[in-house]
Amino acid sequence: MAFDHRKYTAFRPVAKPDRRWPDQVIEKAPTWCAVDLRDGNQALVKPMSVAQKQRMFDLLVKLGFKEIEIGFPAASQPDFDFCRKLIEENRIPDDVKIQVLTQARPELIKRTYEALQGAQSAIVHVYNSTSTVQREQVFGLDRAGIREIAVNGAQLVKELAEQYPDTEWTFQYSPESFTGTELDFAVEVIDAVSDVWRPDEGQPVIINLPATVEMATPNVFADQIEWVCDNIRRREHISISVHTHNDRGCGVAAAELAVMAGADRVEGTLMGNGERTGNMDLVTMAMNLYSQGIDPTLDLSGMAEITEVVEACTEISTHPRHPYAGELVFTAFSGSHQDAIRKCLARRKDGDTWNVAYLPIDPSDLGRRYEEVVRINSQSGKGGVAYVLERDYNISLPRWLQIEFSKVVQGAAETNGGEVDSMTVHSLFEQRYLKVHEDWALRAYDLRRDEDGVHAEFTYGRESAPVRLEGQGLGAVEAVSDALEKRFGIEVAVDAYDEFALGEGTRANALACIRLTADERHCSAAALAEDTTSATLQALLSAVAQVVSGDEVKAGSEESAITA
Ligand code: KIV
Ligand code: ZN
Repeated sequence: MAFDHRKYTAFRPVAKPDRRWPDQVIEKAPTWCAVDLRDGNQALVKPMSVAQKQRMFDLLVKLGFKEIEIGFPAASQPDFDFCRKLIEENRIPDDVKIQVLTQARPELIKRTYEALQGAQSAIVHVYNSTSTVQREQVFGLDRAGIREIAVNGAQLVKELAEQYPDTEWTFQYSPESFTGTELDFAVEVIDAVSDVWRPDEGQPVIINLPATVEMATPNVFADQIEWVCDNIRRREHISISVHTHNDRGCGVAAAELAVMAGADRVEGTLMGNGERTGNMDLVTMAMNLYSQGIDPTLDLSGMAEITEVVEACTEISTHPRHPYAGELVFTAFSGSHQDAIRKCLARRKDGDTWNVAYLPIDPSDLGRRYEEVVRINSQSGKGGVAYVLERDYNISLPRWLQIEFSKVVQGAAETNGGEVDSMTVHSLFEQRYLKVHEDWALRAYDLRRDEDGVHAEFTYGRESAPVRLEGQGLGAVEAVSDALEKRFGIEVAVDAYDEFALGEGTRANALACIRLTADERHCSAAALAEDTTSATLQALLSAVAQVVSGDEVKAGSEESAITA
């Protein structure tokens, strides 16, 4: 059997009954470190060119990152050259620290310092693998052997830094494959490194705890972080960083719980590019904070630029469902979602805190347009269709017409099998309700009111063959209906009638919508005109025209027009 779960064993959770992190609430953003140019770049099919690296670096600076890992200069000549370019061309803002990675091997550490010569400040990030599987199967070393690699590396990092006193140095150590490392051993190695670096004596030190491979649920990772924070020496002098990967799809969740568990700093990449399933996605985590009213300390308002640059540098396209950044993440196709969004947006006043159903944040914060929020396909309902007509054409429909017209749109969507754009919605409305046959075009009218009600005289039809009728009723609609009843020998009952003054931006000033029953047939029509009376009479004529020409559309029940 190829697909056999018995091949695997469960990750053993941390025995930690005193865990405190579940009760913590994140109240401020961690220190961010963007590793796009190192971990992200290492994972690309085609690593970034110098121009792409520069573009990515400039974007990260613009977004507000103050710590940026720019490469692994001792392992890659292009990374070395890029590091030199940034330093020599003075491209690093004073408040930004570059970070470079090196394995804890003497020749690589030396080369790393060569790459960093002349930097105003820098983080030297040294790592070695500490997990059981790496110790036993890759290095064939026991705990002491692995600890010695870390300590020797830390010593050399310190010694070499002393040779370049003009640079402001921060030292960072990662027990790589931390998630697969016994916690007591991870603490043993971290303590051994911090015994060398002495953060308590003023040396800035970061201990970075990577979920090199995500091996368990995020709560287990949080337990691991809290355990380390509780047990290492000099905790108060050390910045605890986490660096999660996304193998189980929980890279962001793990980093968030890790911050609850005490982590001060988070490493990740924009949009989560990185080894295998990727690194922790900085955009998602920062926006998660933002959506909770917490300043993410990054400016992600230009999301289109962010995705454009990331795509251009990584040559990986953005998934349309990518949190906060994907093309479809603020779009509702479902009728009930559209209805709820429309109602919430209509009630919203400037200055209100954001509280809109189905939209966790205001799309305009990220430069997204409300046009994208409601899009129409066969799943959409009356709310969405009404919203599109209102938003794009200033046309408000009464509820009964929303229900009726949404079925027309749904039919069109089912026929074309995809999306119906706003122009098509409008032209369907025009075709079905507004179009006036020239035989039924209102030409002139005269309404006179006396004690018996309204007397209507009106003319309609082609210029060459106008028809003149007269009728009497309690109001204008009744008087015109009376004339038409007599002329065509039908009985007309007006079931619904609404008129609206139109907003600016439309040629007509009024819209009238009418639904009537004539000889047990239902007809509805709408009309646009310069005044409400003209619109009303034209709508009535157009509806009667359908009865007379046998063109009527059977009106459906309200329920049948409501979609999920
Ligand atoms: O994922 C990882 O463990 C790393 C380290 C080098 C920090 O990228
Ligand atoms: Zn990594």
